[in-house]
Amino acid sequence: MSHSLKRTHFCGNLREENIGESVRINGWVAKSRNLGSLIFADIRDYSGIVQVVFDETIEAEVFERATSIRSEYVVAIEGTVRMRSSINDGIPTGKIEILVNELEILNESDVPPIYIRDDDDVTEMVRLKNRTLDLRKPHMQEIFRMRSQMYKITRDYFYENGFVEIETPILSKPTPEGARDYLVPSRVQPGAFYALPQSPQLMKQLLMVSGFDRYIQITKCFRDEDLRFNRQPEFTQIDMELSFVDEEDVMSINENYLKKLFKEIKGIELETPFQRMTYKEAMDRYGVDKPDTRFEMELQDVSEIVKEADFKVFQDAIANGGSVRCIVVKGGAEFFSRKKIDKLEAFVKDYGAKGLAWAKVNEGEIQSPIKKFIEDSIFDSIIQSTEAEVGDLILFVADKNATVFAALGNLRNHIASEMGLIDKEKINALWIIEFPLFEFDEEENRYVAKHHPFTAPMKEDVDLLESDPENCRARAYDIVINGDEMGGGSIRIHKREDQEKMFQALGFSQEEAQEKFGFLLEAFRYGAPPHGGLAFGLDRLCMLLTGEENMRQVIAFPKTQSATDLLTGAPVHLSPKQLEEVHIKTLEEE
Ligand code: AMO
Ligand code: AMP
Repeated sequence: MSHSLKRTHFCGNLREENIGESVRINGWVAKSRNLGSLIFADIRDYSGIVQVVFDETIEAEVFERATSIRSEYVVAIEGTVRMRSSINDGIPTGKIEILVNELEILNESDVPPIYIRDDDDVTEMVRLKNRTLDLRKPHMQEIFRMRSQMYKITRDYFYENGFVEIETPILSKPTPEGARDYLVPSRVQPGAFYALPQSPQLMKQLLMVSGFDRYIQITKCFRDEDLRFNRQPEFTQIDMELSFVDEEDVMSINENYLKKLFKEIKGIELETPFQRMTYKEAMDRYGVDKPDTRFEMELQDVSEIVKEADFKVFQDAIANGGSVRCIVVKGGAEFFSRKKIDKLEAFVKDYGAKGLAWAKVNEGEIQSPIKKFIEDSIFDSIIQSTEAEVGDLILFVADKNATVFAALGNLRNHIASEMGLIDKEKINALWIIEFPLFEFDEEENRYVAKHHPFTAPMKEDVDLLESDPENCRARAYDIVINGDEMGGGSIRIHKREDQEKMFQALGFSQEEAQEKFGFLLEAFRYGAPPHGGLAFGLDRLCMLLTGEENMRQVIAFPKTQSATDLLTGAPVHLSPKQLEEVHIKTLEEE
């Protein structure tokens, strides 16, 4: 460092104990006020802010220099800590100040385009464009220090439990995690491409065949998919794989990891073992495979009760193999006006529902647009069976089950947040197990793997693989916390013939399977151990631990909805020469 005033203390750490000491600090000018014969300034570094004061007792030249400092100037200061005359209880250093005797200006600053304050309320666009400065805000500093602590706790825990960290390639081959791949053209092999990994799935399985026994990696994954509040095109996984294990082994080692993480970062004691819930139960009770169990309002099947009613919408749904289900919103009769219910109806239509029938349980009467189709006695049975009470609102969806679940499951979450039913202090963690192995892809008109094609079927369902794939369950598990999927994994197929059968069930020809996954099938020829694993979304865990509601808050340089990096402007158009080098002609050129 070229300046002479190297720091002895961090700004935010100075306290009454330091009174009388001569100290040096280095940092940014957060604010300065020139009162003529006195100049006050707040100096900031990552640890916090401290007030400094220049008065006429100091050298005239230093005082003169102090008149020139502005916000975000970088300064080095020497002075004596003293009691402050007007105490500020709002900050940890609020009882003291530094009376300056030397000031060095290390760098000047233009007027910054955003305020370096947590309560600066500019749009997120402006923040992301000016991310360097945005990250200077105290709250952002806190987030990334907590995130860094996560890496340490994670590595400590898994290293202590015999895991080795091994890096896997970023320039790789397409991996089937269900999203589109990001592709990188090869310069030396015209027309050939690498794919960025959607996850290290196959590599970690190969490492098990190599005998590493327990692998961990904190790694970037890349998925070209529709972005949401909790999805980024490049994100970080805590990825692991273990040999000679079953589901319980993987779940218990990861529960203990989460227990340590929440304890060390938040001081929260998570109860282990976490609840295990089958996929079927989750769908029946909550309509989604990542239920938020912090509140009730569970789905209830009223098909048996309403099937006698002369209401075509309900009858058709049941006749077509679907169902009529409802949720009971406690106190919803008053909370939801007709207009608000119309909004709820529009909400469920986004999930494919054709309508949202409702009934308000008023004192002595039912108020409902379907009263004309449904006799009082049937309404009585509904109320009895759902335990609805006066003041409640019952919301019904009739359709094929998948639509009913999606509509009511998401409506349940929506209403809970609208009515403020969620206790934000609660952490509810549970495992969802016994997922279906396959799901039917309407677009491709074939079965696809629900998790990925390397997941083993449950032993008791192996025979269903070919005869009844719809009902074949997987040895897969997801960890769900507060209604969000934090991680997922499975016990894998480790025998070559079984893996080939799986590819067959997914409609791959032998050649296709060989071309895409030949290296895995080849590795399985030489003694692959039974193995399984899991990957956490680190960014999602970080959101949970910091209480942030948008993933962009916990990623230093995140991308927007349209996968743009506003700071650098990526992605960018390349020059014709650069394109030619990698043998690419864009459609616009033609
Ligand atoms: P999966 O695809 O479920 O499993 O991913 C694991 C976890 O990664 C997080 N995640 C994401 N986070 C941010 N942005 C995204 N676009 C995104 N996509 C996924 C989620 C998710 O639970 N190879 C398997 C794991 C295994 O079987 O071991 C896999 O990648 O929190
Ligand atoms: P209609 O007779 O079509 O006006 O429907 C009467 C009520 O039933 C309206 O409140 C609709 O929103 C509701 N409705 C229509 N289709 C469905 C459905 N598939 N599931 C639940 N409610 C429905």
